Amino acid sequence: MRGLQDKVVIITGAGGGIGKAICTRFLEEGAVVVAADRDQSALDALVAAAGADATISPLAFDITDFSAVTRAVATVIEKFGRVDVLVNNAGWDIAKPFLDTEPDLWDKIISINLKGPLNLHKAVLPHMVAAKGGKVINIASDAGRVGSSGESVYAACKGGMIAFSKTIARECARDNIRVNVVCPGPTDTPLLRSFVGEGEYGQKIFDKLSKAIPLKRLGQPDDIPGMIAFFASDDANFITGQVISVSGGLTMHG
Ligand SMILES: NC(=O)c1ccc[n+]([C@@H]2O[C@H](COP(=O)([O-])OP(=O)(O)OC[C@H]3O[C@@H](n4cnc5c(N)ncnc54)[C@H](O)[C@@H]3O)[C@@H](O)[C@H]2O)c1
Repeated sequence: MRGLQDKVVIITGAGGGIGKAICTRFLEEGAVVVAADRDQSALDALVAAAGADATISPLAFDITDFSAVTRAVATVIEKFGRVDVLVNNAGWDIAKPFLDTEPDLWDKIISINLKGPLNLHKAVLPHMVAAKGGKVINIASDAGRVGSSGESVYAACKGGMIAFSKTIARECARDNIRVNVVCPGPTDTPLLRSFVGEGEYGQKIFDKLSKAIPLKRLGQPDDIPGMIAFFASDDANFITGQVISVSGGLTMHG
């Protein structure tokens, strides 16, 4: 991919299934990776696996805490002087029909999947505006495009992130900031495992999901980073406000 060498890239949810794969891909492309997660031990494992020479810096903070986000971004600016690429990947959900949910759960889901990325945009965009350029890639979900039973509030957040991303793409185009969205389909990560459940029952849902996907398999974490690296690269310099699904053809949009 062109133009990713030495780019300073913040990746949230870096300790999770898809986040680790995104970090690995950007390291392979020669980027300087700031791996952000609230889970310090997951970050420690990621950095250890990357090896001593890897250009990766762990940064533990909770994306729902605006002042913690502001402080974290300030440390990145202090250390590297800029943020070239922001990948909002952290997310969370629990599967329940809407009528079985209560406002406390809605608040938690909204705070992680919607307010968290908003916090990151608010902290990072001023630096991109000052630098007259940057790339943001928001990880939404096919749930935000076509809905997903048991994921109503999460789907609302992801749909909200799609609309938010298009709006920021319009507002920040004059500053050469490009904002695009990648929507994974069902991907084999701890999040999906917790969603479908363990054991025989979980395996049955896994099998059903695989059959429903035209390419006849679930996504693997390594399926996702290519599109993210593309949006971050110079090959995508004239692309903004776009949404693309990486889901084996599960959803097909015109
Ligand atoms: N796995 C799927 O099937 C699937 C499908 C569509 C979209 N997605 C999206 O892909 C992204 C990555 O999901 P994943 O499957 O790798 O999940 P995961 O659970 O494996 O990883 C999520 C990571 O985000 C971190 N995180 C959660 N809340 C946080 C917070 N408040 N502050 C900081 N870090 C926090 C967790 O510690 C974890 O390391 C999410 O945005 C998710 O919604 C996943």
